[in-house]
Amino acid sequence: MTQALRLGIAGLGTVGVGVVRIVRRHADLLQARTGRPIEIVAVSARDSSKDRGVNLSDYAWETDPVALAKRDDVDVFVELMGGENGPAKASVEAALTSGKDVVTANKALLAIHGQELAEKAEAAGRVIRFEAAVAGGIPVIKSLTEGLAGNEITRVMGVMNGTCNYILTRMQSQEKGYNALFDECAELGYLEADPNLDVGGIDAAHKLALLSSIAFGTKPNFDGIEIEGIQQISLDDIHQADDMGYRIKLLGLAQRTARGLEQRMQPCLVPSDSPLGQLEGGTNMVVIEGDAVEQVVLRGPGAGEGPTASAVMGDVCDLARGLKISTFGRPATSLEDATPAITGLPAPYYLRLGLLDKPGALAKVAAILGDAGVSIDRMRQYGHSDSTAPVLIVTHKTTRATLDVALDGFRTTDVVAGEPVALRIEQV
Ligand code: NAP
Ligand code: HSE
Repeated sequence: MTQALRLGIAGLGTVGVGVVRIVRRHADLLQARTGRPIEIVAVSARDSSKDRGVNLSDYAWETDPVALAKRDDVDVFVELMGGENGPAKASVEAALTSGKDVVTANKALLAIHGQELAEKAEAAGRVIRFEAAVAGGIPVIKSLTEGLAGNEITRVMGVMNGTCNYILTRMQSQEKGYNALFDECAELGYLEADPNLDVGGIDAAHKLALLSSIAFGTKPNFDGIEIEGIQQISLDDIHQADDMGYRIKLLGLAQRTARGLEQRMQPCLVPSDSPLGQLEGGTNMVVIEGDAVEQVVLRGPGAGEGPTASAVMGDVCDLARGLKISTFGRPATSLEDATPAITGLPAPYYLRLGLLDKPGALAKVAAILGDAGVSIDRMRQYGHSDSTAPVLIVTHKTTRATLDVALDGFRTTDVVAGEPVALRIEQV
């Protein structure tokens, strides 16, 4: 009989349990598709007594994931613990140096240490696969490295964090508060161990760094990404955007420009009737543009047990079939250093300010914008509390650097209360 592919799985949380379920449920299907049995031989997690809702009695238990990674009876080490350092990094390194291929869903680890780990894998003649790390169940890594390998990629953009999209869309449709929605994301298994990574835009930026590397042949450059989270978005912003025909999305974009590699992950207004504008709940969308294919749009569930485990198993099946592709789609030693673009292309911006109710306040705000060189397209004062009146301004196209001068002016003037909100308007 053909030799089985033997898995060691470290991490039995949302994703790990999902992988165990698929291996058990689809043993025959997986064997039929790959030509060999896929078996789990050993697992690891922190708490061996926890009921995880799956039968683990057939598998050896390792308390130390590094020991699991080194086991002689493991062919593929599946890292599903998370974290950019600690046991995740130590065990992936141990697996590679012990001659095992690695499958991981850990975008934080690869966005920060991907270059070093990819070089280590290549030196050991092994591979690291990470489909589950980007956009959950969407096979976006496979699309970029394989299906679109004949293209010069010009731009990659999209919505890559299920938690943020769930919160932003449910705030609008159900008028629920941030905290209640956060609890729902936890129940759905969407949240990172540190949910600040989700709402702070960092998790999505980790994913963008990985896509950029494959798309543009550069070393993953997480530090070169301009990152803003969704924490400052209020229900008011969502309603104001809606009134103007827009939805607010945490949008990532990476493109090569004459100024260098532009990479940003920030909440933006996108037209409500665009495919990105219509994305609901935990769904992700990645748009890839290449010189030959023009545009490919990939859409699907971006987080949660089933979709993420599905992506892990896609990688496992590739390894069972003997398909081995360099971590970032080309030899790690050939990846270039990315030169980050300093300022992005101009765009219109949505601004929301809390204006103190004083004579001449609006004129001062207009003067600050004018002095900075920002031109106003529309301005509206609405609602009212005793002391402040929210003001909504839509600017003509300007660069973020120019706008930042005006935002600094708002922070130091005596007529603006609180932190101004500034969101880019993208005509996607
Ligand atoms: P999770 O539910 O928090 O599970 C983490 C698992 O790792 C738990 O079983 C935990 O053990 C185990 N673990 C943590 N530290 C450990 C250690 N030192 N030694 C051994 N085991 C340890 O996380 P998850 O949502 O499954 O996410 C796992 C990875 O997938 C992360 O990298 C995440 O970013 C990524 N990911 C998640 C999703 C998603 O939708 N959830 C989607 C894509 C990618 P205990 O159970 O005993 O505490
Ligand atoms: N926390 C991530 C999200 C999980 O919400 O998208 C999927 O990577």
